[in-house]
Amino acid sequence: MVGVAVMLAAPAFAAPDPARIEAGRYQAILADCIGCHTAPGGKAFAGGVLLDTPFGKLATPNITPDKATGLGNWSAADFRAAVKTGMAPGGRRLYPAMPYPAYARISDADLNDLWAYLQSLAPVRNPVNVNQLAFPFNIRGLMAGWNWLYFKTAAIQPQPGKSAAFSRGEYLVNGPGHCGACHTPKNLFGADTAAALTGSALQGWFAPDITAAPRRGIGGWHVSEVVTYLKTGHNSHAMATGPMAEVIENSTALMRDADLAAIATYLTALPGDGAAPAPLSAGDARMKEGALVYDSNCRGCHNSGGGGQSLIFPPLAANPVVQQQSADSLIRVVLAGTQSAQTARAPTAAAMPSFAWRLNDVEVAAVLTYIRNAWGNAAAPVSPDAVTKTRRSMPRH
Ligand code: HEC
Ligand code: HEC
Ligand code: HEC
Repeated sequence: MVGVAVMLAAPAFAAPDPARIEAGRYQAILADCIGCHTAPGGKAFAGGVLLDTPFGKLATPNITPDKATGLGNWSAADFRAAVKTGMAPGGRRLYPAMPYPAYARISDADLNDLWAYLQSLAPVRNPVNVNQLAFPFNIRGLMAGWNWLYFKTAAIQPQPGKSAAFSRGEYLVNGPGHCGACHTPKNLFGADTAAALTGSALQGWFAPDITAAPRRGIGGWHVSEVVTYLKTGHNSHAMATGPMAEVIENSTALMRDADLAAIATYLTALPGDGAAPAPLSAGDARMKEGALVYDSNCRGCHNSGGGGQSLIFPPLAANPVVQQQSADSLIRVVLAGTQSAQTARAPTAAAMPSFAWRLNDVEVAAVLTYIRNAWGNAAAPVSPDAVTKTRRSMPRH
């Protein structure tokens, strides 16, 4: 009976090939299509997620096979052109908030599988008002100029002397995984700069340096520790609490172990930019005040040496998140508190309480300056002004 139901549900024009659909489902995981195209509480792939771009708001379209509001009238060639070049049917140019500059590296065969998978989904009627950008950014034709200047994706050629795992990792990170969309610093026009994967501010968070750069990057992580983080959201160095928690739940936690190992092999072999600042001296007034705030507010969970406690309270010593150039996400964590990623493999997660009501801006700046420069850490001090600015930008803090 199951077989009959499948045949009835299939589109009349093509017999569904279960192997291709399954292969396509995995491509959607590698590329995290669901993360952007599924609204919280909404139907999978039916769109409606409001994205904050530097140029205004853009809602994601419905990519289920609904004829009226989705991709029901598209061909496989239409789909490949949109995903790889940002050109939708009728010459409509997509904004690079849809990460086609990275997806350009996905092979046509993999995209055909992904198309077979999307076609196998139930159509969902969900009209979305996509373009909510302000003038002049709402003019799609501007993207022709953007593409001419910045759309320079080249196919990744295996580098001589590198392992197969490194090459696979390079492809996954810079192709379907589009990790640089968050982790690579952007120029004024929202295009990637040359400092690939060295960290970038994003919507009040900071996507850290994920090269092997000392202190700021993940050079101190073993390949297996990178895999554990991408699989569960936790390892002995860090926990995912912000936008990365969603990437992990929707994408990396569902990737095959060999693909995670390939990503880890590639990232831990990237040199990054080696420069690291010298720590502030313990005699600095900000360090002294910060130590006092730490002892009465943080030590109970994060421990006296900043060592944390097993997988429950993350260590702050030698933690790259604590030593990034921008302290935005740290300010946010202390003011708002957090709840780390919950995945099937690590279902229980501890929370960090909010300190917005308890510490003033000078105290938050001092304690962050302290944890960034104690126990062998080193990073620029945090100013009370930066805390004030972040506090104002957050709802109810
Ligand atoms: C980082 C967020 C993000 C991710 C990840 C993402 N998309 Fe998109 N996508 C968008 C946005 C935003 C648009 C609307 C762009 C525009 O209209 O200019 C879009 C547009 C599209 C369109 C054009 C639809 C139309 O009606 O114009 C298709 C097709 C599409 N995405 C498919 C995919 C597929 C397949 C994946 C995974 C391989 C994917 N997207 C991953 C954000 C994303
Ligand atoms: C939507 C933006 C976004 C995307 C896409 C993204 N990341 Fe992240 N990532 C972040 C942010 C923000 C953090 C900081 C921690 C958090 O959000 O909880 C982070 C943290 C990390 C960390 C931990 C670094 C540390 O020092 O603690 C690793 C490793 C990482 N990401 C790897 C990846 C990989 C690999 C990919 C691509 C498969 C990826 N990220 C894609 C935003 C993103
Ligand atoms: C009640 C226990 C508790 C207290 C008190 C506490 N924290 Fe946390 N903290 C946590 C937990 C749990 C996490 C991980 C949160 C998560 O992943 O959701 C965390 C995460 C963090 C992180 C992010 C680390 C990373 O790798 O992403 C920083 C930074 C931090 N805490 C700093 C502080 C500071 C500074 C104080 C004092 C002002 C403090 N914490 C007080 C429990 C606590």
